[in-house]
Amino acid sequence: MKVLVAGGAGFIGSHLVDRLIGLGHGVAVIDNLSSGRKENLNKGAVFYNMDICDAGVEEVFDRERPDIVFHLAAQIDVRQSVMDPIADAGTNILGSLNLLQNAKKTGVTKFIFTSTGGAIYGDADLIPTPETYREFPLSPYGIAKLSIEKYLYCYCKVFGLNYTILRLANVYGPRQNSKGEAGVVAIFCDKMLAGKQPAINGSGGQTRDFVYVDDVIEAQIAAMRPEITGIFNIGTGIETDINQIFRQIKQVSGSKCEEIHTAANSGEQQRSCLDASKAGLELGWTPEKPLAAGIEATVNWFKNRPNGDIKSEKKRFWIFLAGLALFWAAATVLGENGAAIRNKMSDWRLVPEAERFTELYFDNYESLPRRIDGGGALAFSFAIRNLEGAVTDYPYAVYVERQDGRRDIVSGGAIRLADRENKTVSVLNKIEDGAAANKIVVRLTNLNQEISFLLADNK
Ligand SMILES: NC(=O)c1ccc[n+]([C@@H]2O[C@H](COP(=O)([O-])OP(=O)(O)OC[C@H]3O[C@@H](n4cnc5c(N)ncnc54)[C@H](O)[C@@H]3O)[C@@H](O)[C@H]2O)c1
Repeated sequence: MKVLVAGGAGFIGSHLVDRLIGLGHGVAVIDNLSSGRKENLNKGAVFYNMDICDAGVEEVFDRERPDIVFHLAAQIDVRQSVMDPIADAGTNILGSLNLLQNAKKTGVTKFIFTSTGGAIYGDADLIPTPETYREFPLSPYGIAKLSIEKYLYCYCKVFGLNYTILRLANVYGPRQNSKGEAGVVAIFCDKMLAGKQPAINGSGGQTRDFVYVDDVIEAQIAAMRPEITGIFNIGTGIETDINQIFRQIKQVSGSKCEEIHTAANSGEQQRSCLDASKAGLELGWTPEKPLAAGIEATVNWFKNRPNGDIKSEKKRFWIFLAGLALFWAAATVLGENGAAIRNKMSDWRLVPEAERFTELYFDNYESLPRRIDGGGALAFSFAIRNLEGAVTDYPYAVYVERQDGRRDIVSGGAIRLADRENKTVSVLNKIEDGAAANKIVVRLTNLNQEISFLLADNK
């Protein structure tokens, strides 16, 4: 069968693509990589790097002629949807309609939509919550999901487009983006394994229904059957609180972090747990992976994940330091020539700050900061790398710090970077009062990261 997966480079979508290809289906993916990653993509899939709102979607449908469409592409951040409901609706309603219109036009036999349980039922007083529970979403994200559910009903009745809606609980597992606000398991795994301190929002007593990604994929596969239609909750029916999740990940990861709580997010849902008995009866689906085994598998994946940011950044830092040491050693034994080089280079002394060497760094040896004249001119470059997992703006500022600690800004700006992208920023500037300057500081203003180098007197 020919299957189109919108959002196939994302966390859940990429697992689905793997499974579909394993089953022998021909798979095409539309994804704009806003939160998905190319590394997630199965090489057996045809990839269209495209926004679901784009007019080019029509050409993709014409070319691929899919039998089935899985729609997982979405702006998934609930808080973001509250801050910018228009942008949320642009992707989650208008983008979805673009897929629906093209599905109708090209005779797609089935449209499988990935919806949400928690955001549609809100704080339900019936736990576990069945599909028949009243729907009063409290976020634009939930409203958009519910709207598309209603559109699907309409497209089915009016145009005969068959559909299945899966209202997912809290999905977790390998490849989940730890920068998203939904993936608490991913966030805790990422922080604990990096030796950082995660924080629990509020008391940690709020509950969720955690379902392992492989189980969700089996529900998606079952939903492909032509006789399956309508709405299905996909969850475990088990409530787990965030404190429990924290403790389990801490134990499996061997982290020594503290159990720290921050102020509760206002309006945060207190309980969410789905009754998936309808999926059991009609899809023949039940979740298989117990939470403990799922968490262990997820921690292990984070430990060994491809492109391990932490490992490679640390390695990069130590290689950099080793290179620096080698340079000084070589310059020292080179006699007069060496002295000349040393004088030239030692105008500035680098003070690296290891723990902050992730997104911001002096990018290579050649770009070490240098004084280019005796007075107050400076030239150097630094680099910023995007580890956020989505296109992100990085505002930066360059300061001259005086002996008394006062800082004057000498340069600044913002850089937009795609996931994993890094760019070098060159600074060429004048320092007004070179004599009083002590230190040059580069700061990523929204991440509180700084690197600095001392202005050494070389006379
Ligand atoms: N993860 C969960 O717990 C959960 C729970 C309920 C529902 N869902 C739904 O499941 C789906 C997949 O979620 P996920 O957790 O894998 O998130 P994800 O962010 O990893 O996946 C979403 C994918 O859609 C892509 N995308 C976003 N906007 C796009 C656009 N305009 N055009 C093209 N591609 C776009 C992203 O790049 C990403 O690859 C979403 O629809 C989400 O709302 C997820």
